[in-house]
Amino acid sequence: MSTTAALFHRLAEHRRSLEGASLRALFDADPERFERFSVTLDDLLFDYSKTKVTPETVALLVELARAAGVEELRDAMFRGEKINLTEDRAVLHTALRAAPDARVRVDGADVIPDIQHERAKAYRFANGVRNGALLGATGETFTDVVNIGIGGSDLGPAMAALALTPYVQKGLKGHFVSNVDGAHLADTLKELEPTRTLFLVASKTFTTQETMANAHAARRWLAGGLGEAAVGAHFAAISTNVEAVEAFGVSEGRMFRFWDWVGGRYSIWSVIGLSLAILIGPKNFDAFLAGAREIDEHFRDAPLEENIPALMGLIGVWHRNVCGYAAQAVLPYDQRLARFPAYLQQLDMESNGKSVTRHGHPVAAATGPLVWGEPGTNGQHAFYQLLHQGTNVIPADILMAATPHEHVGDQHAMLLANALAQGEAFMRGRTEGEALEQLAAAGVDAAQAAALAPHKTFPGDRPTCALAYRVLDPRTLGRLIALYEHKVFVQGAIWNINSFDQWGVELGKELANRLIPIVKGEKPATGLDGSTRGLVRHLERLREA
Ligand code: F6P
Repeated sequence: MSTTAALFHRLAEHRRSLEGASLRALFDADPERFERFSVTLDDLLFDYSKTKVTPETVALLVELARAAGVEELRDAMFRGEKINLTEDRAVLHTALRAAPDARVRVDGADVIPDIQHERAKAYRFANGVRNGALLGATGETFTDVVNIGIGGSDLGPAMAALALTPYVQKGLKGHFVSNVDGAHLADTLKELEPTRTLFLVASKTFTTQETMANAHAARRWLAGGLGEAAVGAHFAAISTNVEAVEAFGVSEGRMFRFWDWVGGRYSIWSVIGLSLAILIGPKNFDAFLAGAREIDEHFRDAPLEENIPALMGLIGVWHRNVCGYAAQAVLPYDQRLARFPAYLQQLDMESNGKSVTRHGHPVAAATGPLVWGEPGTNGQHAFYQLLHQGTNVIPADILMAATPHEHVGDQHAMLLANALAQGEAFMRGRTEGEALEQLAAAGVDAAQAAALAPHKTFPGDRPTCALAYRVLDPRTLGRLIALYEHKVFVQGAIWNINSFDQWGVELGKELANRLIPIVKGEKPATGLDGSTRGLVRHLERLREA
């Protein structure tokens, strides 16, 4: 048995030893539990005391991380080694936010000067849009910035632009078009004036079907309104593929480059963040990068026992592999983080949704959980019923800011009270005895109380972690994203999978390409399975009717 397998075995035994202990009992037995199982980094607090762990659990998990070589892989990543084996690439989103005097080499060449150069170019462009030095073809300033991209070329900027709404320059509005469904572009363009609209075509490969279709459609719309000659003034492109950008017709000066060692879902820190930099300005974008850098330093330097992303990853491994929980909810009590769960879905599920190891063998343990969520309090009125009383235990992360940007009555206190109450309810639950007591106190007769009590009983013992911070500003958003990036990294390292490729998205793309001419009626529906053929024909009949 390998050392990691032996540790998983010990963890399973250890869990059995905890079966009789409820979270309530653990809190009752240890008045220091919160202090013992929480870590602070400046104003940022990670509290994992409401997960069923003991000092022995943490020690075993840390031993597992060490045995799995998490620290070595982490250092190799920061050094620029090609840890993305299947694509033979370095993984250097951390270099994008490194200090300007850092030195990070790929194939012997320092990448920092290129990063600085490209960022300076993007900032000049952003400032030009913001201060009106860059104008549209008819001499008007830009009021609307449309980012056309999908996956990592959309989710990051779209999520961050919403999260940082208070920092967006007055008079500027960001729009994010991703879906190949023409409704997405049509609904966006309906509101816009071509004279004041700037399009940013964001695609690492510049071949992605959805993005290219939307980019060409946007270009037709612009040329239709202002003439072909106006296109150049209203388009910019962000990519690693210089030739394809040139072929699309964007000039060198309006092309912003990044590199193959930036994974799509890790690219918000690169010029993929241009839409965000335009909206919030370079100074705020710098603060966003600096926030991520703080977490990089912490991840690199703090011992695993006090290392927030490492602990986040290890608690996740405990839940996924030892407790057998298949899902992970993300519940931001921060409305502007509404898109954060969707962002984390790509970050986590595209990174760790794998079934073979880094060397192509079947994995020994379950890998990435299903990640999902919605902001509180809205989720409370939708799916929390299942979280409290459903048959599956779903660990949740609860995120909250001490201070709001806007003081609307006492609503922030109400929001925080709800966040705290949910964590408490998940942890404590309510025993049948307590339910009966409550019913009796409300004057319900004994027979009815007995009938109702099972429905009003909550099992509790449902784990949550809390992340609390002062305020959702650019620095904090940078810190939050980097925390989750490194959490995902730690888990991928323990599972010995490559968290940086995404071959699983290819098959669907290939089949879609084969189906396009069939759906368009240009090719016969041959060679398809019975169901797909039946669906093609049904849709065809409906269109013809
Ligand atoms: O869906 C797969 C994927 O390759 C993602 O990893 C990526 O973020 C997205 O497509 C978009 O790719 P691109 O930036 O090359 O258009």
